[in-house]
Amino acid sequence: MNWDETTPGDADDPRPGAADRLVGAAADREDQAVEAALRPKDLGEFVGQERVREQLDLVLRAARQRGATADHVLLSGAPGLGKTTLSMIIAAEMGAPIRITSGPAIQHAGDLAAILSSLAEGEVLFLDEIHRMSRPAEEMLYMAMEDFRVDVIVGKGPGATAIPLELPPFTLVGATTRAGLLPPPLRDRFGFTGHMDFYAPAELERVLHRSAGLLDVPLEAEGAAEIAGRSRGTPRIANRLLRRVRDFAQVKADGVITREVSARALSVYEVDARGLDRLDRAVLEALLKLFGGGPVGLSTLAVAVGEESETVEEVAEPFLVREGLLARTPRGRVATPAAWAHLGLTAPQQGWGGSQQGLFGQP
Ligand SMILES: Nc1ncnc2c1ncn2[C@@H]1O[C@H](COP(=O)(O)OP(=O)(O)OP(=O)(O)O)[C@@H](O)[C@H]1O
Ligand SMILES: [Mg+2]
Repeated sequence: MNWDETTPGDADDPRPGAADRLVGAAADREDQAVEAALRPKDLGEFVGQERVREQLDLVLRAARQRGATADHVLLSGAPGLGKTTLSMIIAAEMGAPIRITSGPAIQHAGDLAAILSSLAEGEVLFLDEIHRMSRPAEEMLYMAMEDFRVDVIVGKGPGATAIPLELPPFTLVGATTRAGLLPPPLRDRFGFTGHMDFYAPAELERVLHRSAGLLDVPLEAEGAAEIAGRSRGTPRIANRLLRRVRDFAQVKADGVITREVSARALSVYEVDARGLDRLDRAVLEALLKLFGGGPVGLSTLAVAVGEESETVEEVAEPFLVREGLLARTPRGRVATPAAWAHLGLTAPQQGWGGSQQGLFGQP
């Protein structure tokens, strides 16, 4: 395996407030250090994502039967759902070596040409964050994907010549958290696209039991359920919470992760029963207690919680919206009835200034 660049994690995340979040989906340094040991090694070990797994299994099996290199695969989905893991599984299932690089690591078309021309036959090239590749590199990739050929430009200016270079057949596995940002000509060149969804709690429980086994941590079924419910549908977060709960179980209990130990540990770390952390709750609480549930403008809400608008919008809101706790409306942010219930508060009869009337079909 060859790492051209480590995957950027929370620590490099330019968004304020995104670093060091226990429930952040991007990999932090500790995740990067331990994830290799927890990654499933073949499709059989890969939990959930039934449809993607079944489709990919067919693609790979068929290629193996033909003795051919597998079609190019695009994996899209939110951070921490298993794209990198699946790319390594693809290589393992094909018995092929894997080369790992990422869009931001490829500044010039020449960088890509160097990688492509050194690939072995059948090798898997994993291109993480493929939506962040430069335009010239992208255009070179089109030709490489389709014709297994690149034109290497030698020299500069009017004297520059294009030397065609044949490539061995390879499988490109592209990963992106932003499939919508991919230019259609690039998207069209993938033979198979797998879209990864958030995991159901029962699937996260299986991830947790598997990880607990590997880490040699005694985990009871109810303890796993408690952690799974707080993991935001994301295996990376589940594994991270498991490590924190293990610490607690070791220091404050007898090492066994029971339901009660999980709940107590995660309340110490301020991750609530639905996986909201302090920032998420601060946003909801301000919305409910200061603004009667809204609508309130983003910047006003951000000032109320003492954060940048950007942090509220990009770090806290996506999960609150996904959970159906907050809605973005043209008139501002509005809390849903589920938000009042989650914080154990009663919605006022009249919304703020009566302006919430009709928004959720309540008086
Ligand atoms: N289906 C799964 N079954 C078991 N464990 C999983 C699964 N998916 C992910 N994991 C675990 O979650 C961790 C994160 O997964 P991975 O690094 O593949 O996510 P990613 O989609 O590549 O994230 P990013 O977008 O940040 O690169 C892995 O270490 C792995 O242990
Ligand atoms: Mg990844």
